[in-house]
Amino acid sequence: MSAHSVAADQADISIGSTPCDIGNVPTLLESISSFRGRNDLGTNRDDRLDLLEQARKLVHALETPRELMLKHIGAETASFFSIALGIDVGLFKALVLHQGKPKKVKEIAGIIGFDVDGLSRILRHLAAMGHIENTGPDEYAPNNFSKALTIPVIADGYLFYRETCIPSMLHLHSWLKTKAYQTPTTVIDNPFTFGQRTSMTMFEFMAIEPYRMEHFNHHMGGYRLGRPSWFEPSVYPAQERLLALRDSSNSDAAVLVDIGGNKGHDLERFLSYFPSVAEGENKGKFILQDTAPVLAEAPSDLISLIEKQPHDFFMPQPVQGARAYYLHHILHDWPDAKCEVIVKQIRGSMKKGYSKLLINEHVIPAVGANWEATYLDLYMMVQFGSRERTEEEWKVLLEEKCGMRIVGIWNPGNGVEAVIECEI
Ligand SMILES: C[S@@+](CC[C@H](N)C(=O)[O-])C[C@H]1O[C@@H](n2cnc3c(N)ncnc32)[C@H](O)[C@@H]1O
Repeated sequence: MSAHSVAADQADISIGSTPCDIGNVPTLLESISSFRGRNDLGTNRDDRLDLLEQARKLVHALETPRELMLKHIGAETASFFSIALGIDVGLFKALVLHQGKPKKVKEIAGIIGFDVDGLSRILRHLAAMGHIENTGPDEYAPNNFSKALTIPVIADGYLFYRETCIPSMLHLHSWLKTKAYQTPTTVIDNPFTFGQRTSMTMFEFMAIEPYRMEHFNHHMGGYRLGRPSWFEPSVYPAQERLLALRDSSNSDAAVLVDIGGNKGHDLERFLSYFPSVAEGENKGKFILQDTAPVLAEAPSDLISLIEKQPHDFFMPQPVQGARAYYLHHILHDWPDAKCEVIVKQIRGSMKKGYSKLLINEHVIPAVGANWEATYLDLYMMVQFGSRERTEEEWKVLLEEKCGMRIVGIWNPGNGVEAVIECEI
């Protein structure tokens, strides 16, 4: 039975051209006006996000279902693929040339080697969507958003999603249909493997096509940009819970092992935030583990205290008795059965009463989930047959399946990943 054949009362056609929630507009305007005069919103993240949420609700309240539908299916998809194409051909780099002074379409087309007609139509749509400025007839200039599209950690997210993630989402409906609408739960049979016609996991697939890996690694950098780090007091009291009680009698003792730490950005941030940790005689070890090809990409000027160690996290953890083993955005990539292997390999090397396992992931609340967690949850489903987890799902995985004890969960909210502290 298709969804269209489900008997339902159809809404009156007039709802399609009526603003979605016009009755709520006065309340939203009042709430928004309470931010008038605030000049700290550029630095006060929580209040800025609060205002943004009110503004988003206001836009939604004013739009009609028809306008929203056209925006979703046409305007936003055309804009996404135009931005990605623009990144391919150097459009945004051309726009910022000469301090971003306005340029005629013909001049931009000459710089990037693009057909004038096609380019003028792309630029016109990007301006209509607010992504660039239309400064005169056939003339455009970048704004802060389009200037940011010249930075690899912002730009490559578009290419990573276009090449490696969106094909999976495009195949979700047909994959589900072949499986009687049962949600994917394995890394080797899901919309990603179906869409890319592969039996490899996404990470294996990216390893043989290095441009995908480069886009992914840059995107990870963009994802982190401007977000509070796990060890900041607004997230997790790392000084008190981790550093204060570490064994500093032995310079060989491992303090922190970042497992699947990619190119070392989290460890670098940690050591820059706690510079005193790197001082004195017995500094201890800070170990970065990932696959060999990823570690080979790590910057050569990585803080010298960081030791790179190729390691497959499905194999026994080679570092014994570290103060903490840290997993950031690892377990959400894997279904429970694989997570069980990863966690148990770490558990085997933990020292009872001393070592901690720190899991830095979204903990989705029962009500009012944030979009930063919900979109990732759906992409985890199509890419890996995995998920972002609720508190209950974390308890089942970590305590019931892996035999760990959750000591506490520090959840800062607003789309930032929580820290789940576990012991054996
Ligand atoms: C989503 S990324 C997270 C990276 C980093 N922890 C962060 O949050 O920015 C997943 C990482 O797991 C690594 N990885 C995937 N399979 C692995 C394996 N079998 N052993 C070790 N690392 C692996 C990838 O190379 C990648 O760096």
